[in-house]
Amino acid sequence: MEKTFLMVKPDGVQRNVIGEIVARFEKKGYHLVGAKLMQIPTELAEEHYGEHKERPFFGELVSFITSGPVFAMVWEGENVILTARQMMGATNPKDAAPGTIRGDFAVTVGKNMIHGSDSAESAEREIGLFFKEEELVSYEKTINNWVN
Ligand code: PPS
Repeated sequence: MEKTFLMVKPDGVQRNVIGEIVARFEKKGYHLVGAKLMQIPTELAEEHYGEHKERPFFGELVSFITSGPVFAMVWEGENVILTARQMMGATNPKDAAPGTIRGDFAVTVGKNMIHGSDSAESAEREIGLFFKEEELVSYEKTINNWVN
């Protein structure tokens, strides 16, 4: 089953919307298989955003993501990588449609509430950066028993 890495950024944690964001993915039908509230060390932030190293906002991005706790998550489900990105909305909240997380909660690109892996390769890399194998659970055997 496909997995993605999602993270409520420090602005989302400070604004007390972790629960609302988690609820959107739960209600959609995805399953949370790993989660932790954590303070990201600078080295991890630099590695996570490594592909943007040469971009002018890199320093700002790293200092923002390390400015307070984040809520790091792994979600599982059919097409979860692409669908989660659609549910997040465009990177710049000014372009994010109402009904998306950024469209509903964010105003500026520097504080856009949530990060989500943009491909299967990124998902695998980012899950590996933030979670150990034993920190992820598997619902494979029990999942259908809760609803039927
Ligand atoms: S994307 O979604 O990867 O295509 O977006 P991209 O435009 O390449 O941006 C990469 C990440 O940098 C963040 N970003 C910024 N942060 C601060 N200031 C400015 N101006 C800025 N522009 C982009 C953007 O939110 C992406 O981070 P994540 O965590 O993936 O959202």
